[in-house]
Amino acid sequence: MILHTPVLLHEVCSFLNPEDKLIVDCTLGHGGHAMALLSIAKNARLVGFDIDQLMMDKAEMRIRAFDVDVANRIDYVHGNYTTIQDVLWSKKADFILNDLWVNLEHFKAVERGFSIRGTAALDMRFDTSTGPTVADILAKYTTDQLRHVFEQYADFSSPKALELAQHIVTTRKQKPIVTTQDLKLLLNDCGLGDKACTVIFQSLRIEINQELENLKTFLSVFPETLNSAWRCIIITYHSIEDRLVKQAFNELVATWNYKLVTKKPVMPNYKEVAINRAARSAKMRILERI
Ligand SMILES: C[S@@+](CC[C@H](N)C(=O)[O-])C[C@H]1O[C@@H](n2cnc3c(N)ncnc32)[C@H](O)[C@@H]1O
Repeated sequence: MILHTPVLLHEVCSFLNPEDKLIVDCTLGHGGHAMALLSIAKNARLVGFDIDQLMMDKAEMRIRAFDVDVANRIDYVHGNYTTIQDVLWSKKADFILNDLWVNLEHFKAVERGFSIRGTAALDMRFDTSTGPTVADILAKYTTDQLRHVFEQYADFSSPKALELAQHIVTTRKQKPIVTTQDLKLLLNDCGLGDKACTVIFQSLRIEINQELENLKTFLSVFPETLNSAWRCIIITYHSIEDRLVKQAFNELVATWNYKLVTKKPVMPNYKEVAINRAARSAKMRILERI
């Protein structure tokens, strides 16, 4: 099993109150953060969401092997963290963690189509039980929709995003774009190297999984689920996500019912980045209800 290394683990744990009773981990992944949090808050229960059933099964197995007491204090929810309000219902959380983005395993499991390496069907869905795949959107989206994805989520200039979108639409008339290599070769034709191809793959992943829409929904509902005096931590890995979190937190602070625990986002130090490159773009913001 390829393990995901939890990002800013020490820092996340330092904001937890050991007396907390209800923790929500919006993105359980392989359970690294969840295990550490429950080892500190000995009387807490944790509601752990993951939209990817495969990750959830692995987390469950891993946590049980780690500590049966910790495993018995977790309620697993296979689903979208946007449903947090419905899942908690009348309960209020003392501590919410939302560690966005992908699990390392999503990239390493070549068959899921997230990586430019290897050949696989162009899928990239977190939840493989529902919804269109990236191959589907490359077959159906208009030039304008594709341009929008590349411009907004990959930060490509408007003319370059349009060139890529037009090339996709022309190519698919002759041959469907269904594998990771079909897409990579097409992008290479437009002069993109590996780094730029990775950014385009990432933009399609954000689109197919509605990552920004999910974050926006979460930001509009989580205050209702937070207990009278505790914290919500969000770790982002992309400037658009961080901007959304910063803006939503600032709007809540302006109501006088919340405060920012740290003025600036917490970022991994060079030692963490040296061990875990996936952490290099992480930004953690912490909001406290007062
Ligand atoms: C960065 S990983 C979390 C890693 C975790 N903190 C750990 O320590 O292992 C992000 C996880 O979020 C899940 N995910 C992505 N979008 C989601 C959503 N809308 N709802 C629930 N889970 C989601 C992914 O499947 C992935 O496993």
